[in-house]
Amino acid sequence: MTTAPRRYPLIIGATLAAAIAAALILRPEPRGGAQERGAASAGAVPAGVKPLTAQLREFQGSYPEAETPTGVVREVALEAAPATLPLLDGQPLEVWAYNGQVPGPTIRVRRGDTLRVTFTNRLPRPTTVHWHGVRVPNAMDGVPSVTQPAVPPGGTFVYEFVPKDAGTFWFHPHLRSSEQVERGLYGVLVVEDPEPPPYSRDVVWVLDDWRIRQGAIDPQFNTPHDLMHDGRWGNVITVNGNIDERLAVRPGERLRLRLLNSANGRVFAPDFSGLDARVIAVDGLYTAGPLDPGRFELAPGNRIDLDIIVPASAAGQQFSIVDRFTRRPNALASINVSQEAAVQTPAFPSPARAHVPAWRDTETIAPRSEYRLAARRGGEFGIEWTLNGAAARHAHDTSTHGDGDEHPVAVLPRGEWSKLRFVNDSARLHPIHLHGMFFKVLSRDGRPADEPFFRDTVLVHARETVDIGVVPLDEGRWMLHCHILEHAEAGMMSLLDVKATHP
Ligand code: C2O
Ligand code: CU
Repeated sequence: MTTAPRRYPLIIGATLAAAIAAALILRPEPRGGAQERGAASAGAVPAGVKPLTAQLREFQGSYPEAETPTGVVREVALEAAPATLPLLDGQPLEVWAYNGQVPGPTIRVRRGDTLRVTFTNRLPRPTTVHWHGVRVPNAMDGVPSVTQPAVPPGGTFVYEFVPKDAGTFWFHPHLRSSEQVERGLYGVLVVEDPEPPPYSRDVVWVLDDWRIRQGAIDPQFNTPHDLMHDGRWGNVITVNGNIDERLAVRPGERLRLRLLNSANGRVFAPDFSGLDARVIAVDGLYTAGPLDPGRFELAPGNRIDLDIIVPASAAGQQFSIVDRFTRRPNALASINVSQEAAVQTPAFPSPARAHVPAWRDTETIAPRSEYRLAARRGGEFGIEWTLNGAAARHAHDTSTHGDGDEHPVAVLPRGEWSKLRFVNDSARLHPIHLHGMFFKVLSRDGRPADEPFFRDTVLVHARETVDIGVVPLDEGRWMLHCHILEHAEAGMMSLLDVKATHP
């Protein structure tokens, strides 16, 4: 076996990981205090339907079950096709792109507006579009053979939904994604608040890595090496497709910086020290209050939004942002402050979620489902990644609308609180992602996590056990899978069937 990439030593020990989590979480930094924003007054679950558990009662007011549509319809045409683009260092690179761009276009829509995306597939392969993190109706989730037939070459599909949550989301194929995402198919969906906070600038940074061989994307996908390790880690790191992304700002500006990790396998731990930066949102949703970014581990699929104030005195300075997840730091991008006169820094409290349940004292509650994460020999690629000993197969077929029988299914009652447990029996990383719902990390290796925010993707470290709490609000069959795309492709996928138990 070849040597695994060296990891940032601190993440290896669970105790130290907990210490990092504590360092991240336990330093909430008030910047004018939390604002009541984004959270709904509406209780998520109609009272009287069922005796509420303590956890469910605590969940109420976290976010709304539905959003009242504004009636505004945003029409977007999205096309996936091969393209040759000046990426990385500016040399032409053959990619697959949405609307001829990598990253794809940033789609901006307001919460409550209807987004109607007419998608056309101009790739030589079938594909779908999945709206990562968005609470969409199940039929709009883009999972082939589970929620829709795959879109064949030349085919179209109309995705239409009303985003219920403001925040940073993204879209990508959900079929052979280990190849399709790697070739460049991903874009950011920004859902604005009805009244967006008055930042000087709202900027998207898509972090990715590429495995380049002789000026081209290495066409060997799902290699045994990648499968045995943490998926495909590239040899070139980019932000917005550039190896040296620079953000030009004026002194005094206040930025909202939206970070997405769209890599197949690489985890980033961006270091913002030297800048006045606070995390205000994780995986789309606002946190309970601004948090120190510390060494936040941005795993594949994760997003964080940062609230950054460029000091009025920083004229002419350059701030470098580096990734410190691996032992050798990687340069990501820089923020370059101009020599212009300082602008008046917009003053407003950092946006925050009014209510996030603590869900303390849940250690003794039995999980509704427990997943054991492991690998074995066999399958299409020689190695399979399994959940409870089962490896799921992706249906590649475009003709049928299957029932997803190739995926094992667990039932979750809609509108009720459930605990799920992930036990990593392997020495690899597994960022576990749930479609169609947000969850909260309850504990890591039995120690309460105290994360004052929801997530849609959580990084489960080597040999670690992670418990999460979730109240699914939308019925349907939702994927649960590892977001290391090679692991998912090799079987680490399952389904949660969310069903109403009290009609
Ligand atoms: Cu971003 Cu099922 O994934
Ligand atoms: Cu995995």
